[in-house]
Amino acid sequence: MATAEMEFGDTDDARLSMALATIGTDIDQAFDRLLPVPDDTRAPLFEAMRYAAIGGGKRVRPLLLVSTATMLGVSRQAAVLAGAAVESIHVYSLIHDDLPCMDDDDMRRGKPTVHKAYDEATAVLAGDALHALAFEILTFEEVSTVPSVQAELTRCLALASGMGGMAGGQAMDMAAESATYDLHTITRLQQLKTGALLTASVEMGAILARLPHEGRAPLINYARDIGLAFQIVDDLLDHEGDEKKAGKALRKDDEQGKQTFVSLMGADAARQQAQALIDQACGHLAHYGEDAGVLCDLARYIVERDR
Ligand code: IPE
Ligand code: IPE
Ligand code: MG
Ligand code: MG
Ligand code: MG
Repeated sequence: MATAEMEFGDTDDARLSMALATIGTDIDQAFDRLLPVPDDTRAPLFEAMRYAAIGGGKRVRPLLLVSTATMLGVSRQAAVLAGAAVESIHVYSLIHDDLPCMDDDDMRRGKPTVHKAYDEATAVLAGDALHALAFEILTFEEVSTVPSVQAELTRCLALASGMGGMAGGQAMDMAAESATYDLHTITRLQQLKTGALLTASVEMGAILARLPHEGRAPLINYARDIGLAFQIVDDLLDHEGDEKKAGKALRKDDEQGKQTFVSLMGADAARQQAQALIDQACGHLAHYGEDAGVLCDLARYIVERDR
């Protein structure tokens, strides 16, 4: 997080750097407590889960959840745990995304991918177990003692992770290597693959706060815009970013024939599109005024980031 701190100078950026550093520590501590390595032959599974989940990543999804929840008056402890649940799904999706049968990547978050550091079977199982852990966390009474809130959180995360969300988007992404997609279909792919979990992060903050459905529209519109911008920037970074900063191999989308906003529109138009989405996203939060400060800073970070 020192890098993030050095990159940001003014007050708002200092606030964002602090928020990113704090959520990083909170999520590391949560996984450290959740994943004590047992003294039996499951040890490599737990070690692989810890290897993937602790000490890396930007933690954008937990920060989205915690910032939304905090803005709406939820206790930080509950929000951080729910954030760890979303991050657990995200980390599982990264482990599986990197497998030889998918993107076949050797580096993730600046270190060898799980199947390289351990083996493929352990990587598959670590992903499976992190997937299950996410839903277990949502049953903790520290998250909520209200059964309807637990159920709504669970449903929201399940919908965002499955065939109508991340896994469905990953299927479209794999098919994009041989199918031809137009801009509308690419947008749908990105919304499922990446947008769904980012939107769920915001919505879960609102669920924790017991915000009625009719009050959630501005937050969900904000999340949809930043979700799309987030994947456009991921594709731009793949196209022109710095591998050392990104901590993963780049220039892979072209090589694997992946269709992205960048391949369809060109880098300049994609960058403009991402910026316009971020402006629009912050506009949705106007009603919350200064209380939405961190969410707006985070939206800007999503387009300005270099990793
Ligand atoms: C990378 O996600 C994969 C996508 C969904 C684009 P992040 O860019 O959030 O990765 P980490 O968590 O910071 O490593
Ligand atoms: C992965 O998208 C999205 C997930 C659901 C994991 P990418 O394949 O573009 O992510 P990176 O570039 O490997 O991080
Ligand atoms: Mg992929
Ligand atoms: Mg990948
Ligand atoms: Mg990518």
